[in-house]
Amino acid sequence: MLIEKPSDLPTTQINGEPLKSFSSIMLDRRATRGFTSEPVPEEYLSAILRLGTQAPSGYNFQPWRFIVVQEEEQRKRLQAAAFNQPKVSEAPVVIIAVGMKREWKETAREVMEEGKRFGAGSGDVDAVISGAFAFLDHQPMEMWVNRHTMIAFTSMMLAAEAFGLDTAPMEGFDAAKVKEAFDIPEEGEVVALLAIGRAKSPDKAYPGRFPLERIVYRERFGAPFDK
Ligand SMILES: Cc1cc2nc3c(=O)[nH]c(=O)nc-3n(C[C@H](O)[C@H](O)[C@H](O)COP(=O)(O)O)c2cc1C
Repeated sequence: MLIEKPSDLPTTQINGEPLKSFSSIMLDRRATRGFTSEPVPEEYLSAILRLGTQAPSGYNFQPWRFIVVQEEEQRKRLQAAAFNQPKVSEAPVVIIAVGMKREWKETAREVMEEGKRFGAGSGDVDAVISGAFAFLDHQPMEMWVNRHTMIAFTSMMLAAEAFGLDTAPMEGFDAAKVKEAFDIPEEGEVVALLAIGRAKSPDKAYPGRFPLERIVYRERFGAPFDK
């Protein structure tokens, strides 16, 4: 069973504190270098997970799993599999984002039928499923699960920032070691780690971004965006 759209999530404030504006989330978020041990309240964590998993995915297949690591011993195990990055054991919460490369084949029908029950999608479930399978059988699955899982991951990161928490996305880990230490099945692709908590020192300096003229084109690759 798929669930209804949640109606009880924070939209303007959490614990009496206003949520950050969208622009300040985007501008003021920095990859946090170190965390205090202050716990993340369960209410915040649950809202982050529930908001993040509203992310879109191809065919709504939602090929993701999230392991919430909070116990100190488990955070140390994760740190050992993450090139010993101190923030992995410092942060009170680290989420391991995992993409599932095969499971969508088993859940496709449920997703389509439930979508239909919600009044979304096409009526011809068999036709949509066979179209999806024909398409996805030609996609490199590592890339495909990364594409989707990172949207949910990023949504969680931005939700945490909206609640005034600090975050650190990480790719510095040994995927095989993370899989073994956290019982991740063979088809699971470890996509990224997200540390959430409170920064223990001021944010690092803004590291700069490429200007749009170097990375945005108009109509075709290489054509200047600014006319
Ligand atoms: C997917 C991803 C993986 C990253 N992995 C690491 C990491 O393993 N260790 C680390 O210290 N920073 C990591 N970073 C942080 C980046 O270095 C940082 O986001 C980048 O320098 C830009 O800085 P800003 O996020 O503060 O704007 C990662 C960022 C992303 C998006």
